[in-house]
Amino acid sequence: MRTSTIEIENPNKLSKMEKEEIKDAAKLITEGKLVVFPTETVYGVGANALDPIAVKSIFKAKGRPSDNPIIVHICDKKDLKPLVDKVPEKAQKLIDKFWPGPITLVMNKSEIIPFETTGELETVAVRMPNHPVAIELIRAAKVPIAAPSANISGKPSTTNADHAFGDLNGKVDIIIKCGESEIGVESTVVDMTTNLPQILRPGIITKEQIEKVIGKIENHPRLLGKELGIRFRSPGMKYRHYAPESELILIKGKKKEVKKRIESLINQHQKRGRVVGVLVLSDSKYKADIIKCPGKTAPKIAQNLFKVLREFDKLKPDIIFCESIEKRGIGFAIMDRLERAADHKIIEVKDEE
Ligand code: TXA
Ligand code: MG
Repeated sequence: MRTSTIEIENPNKLSKMEKEEIKDAAKLITEGKLVVFPTETVYGVGANALDPIAVKSIFKAKGRPSDNPIIVHICDKKDLKPLVDKVPEKAQKLIDKFWPGPITLVMNKSEIIPFETTGELETVAVRMPNHPVAIELIRAAKVPIAAPSANISGKPSTTNADHAFGDLNGKVDIIIKCGESEIGVESTVVDMTTNLPQILRPGIITKEQIEKVIGKIENHPRLLGKELGIRFRSPGMKYRHYAPESELILIKGKKKEVKKRIESLINQHQKRGRVVGVLVLSDSKYKADIIKCPGKTAPKIAQNLFKVLREFDKLKPDIIFCESIEKRGIGFAIMDRLERAADHKIIEVKDEE
């Protein structure tokens, strides 16, 4: 398959020609084809959410396990109703507050959503993205668009079209290029079907922000480090994810102790002739072979994290040591991605006496 590309210069000021090009991409969606498009969180690879065959081809392009359900994207709040059996009151409050935006709500699905889209679940995850190109595309397609992140399954999500092209060239019909994603980590996913709504995937919209709108909610036990033998509520949780090609070890603890431990690990590994990378989340300095810093504040780290993980893949260190940040606010989402990138290979350094 030949993958074509179109480029959007300024999403907030779409030219007539760009609108026409987006319309052409939308036509591909209605024909059952795959379109990579920008959102405010990460790039998505989209197909008609109501067309089981089109949705199946997303799984094939990504190499995604078929039991991992896909988020359905809409361009208008009123388009939600036909997709779900009912909109719970608390869900409506979150929609009023946060849509369009980086929060996905899981509700009981209606009959029009095929089981291919939901990985055989009776529930569907829906969000309205806050990106003019995504909105224009969905509006022109006149169907909801099922779209996971535009990456090969298991790799970091893509935050620019070049990375999406690298992963999906030849596997999708068209890629809409539109700069770097603003947020950089995927949407917060909240299950609204449980008694107490449950965060399945943390994102930039935090538990505290959600609780201000609907009262108490909880984190899924996996997010609290509990291993579960039961069927996962969000199947996406159980797979290795965000993994760079090199082994990544996450070092948790107080900043000073973390720095000391990483310095000593760099030494040990370099003595054995290994090329060592460090992923720095602070102003600490290291004498490693490759040093990458996505940022020093949580929003910046979120924005650049996946990009930096992908840069490591180009340089191929033998091992990467990664600093940690406090698991609070946006830090919770960042640490979730890092723990999975590390495949739970974590060293906890104790405070010095
Ligand atoms: O920001 C985002 O959410 C991006 C952009 C493209 O919108 N999309 C994205 O999709 O991250 P994906 O497929 O990479 O992640 C979707 C997550 C997975 O963890 C999946 O298991 C979960 O949402 N999910 C989807 N439908 C679900 C459902 N019915 N019940 C529980 N979890 C669901
Ligand atoms: Mg993904």
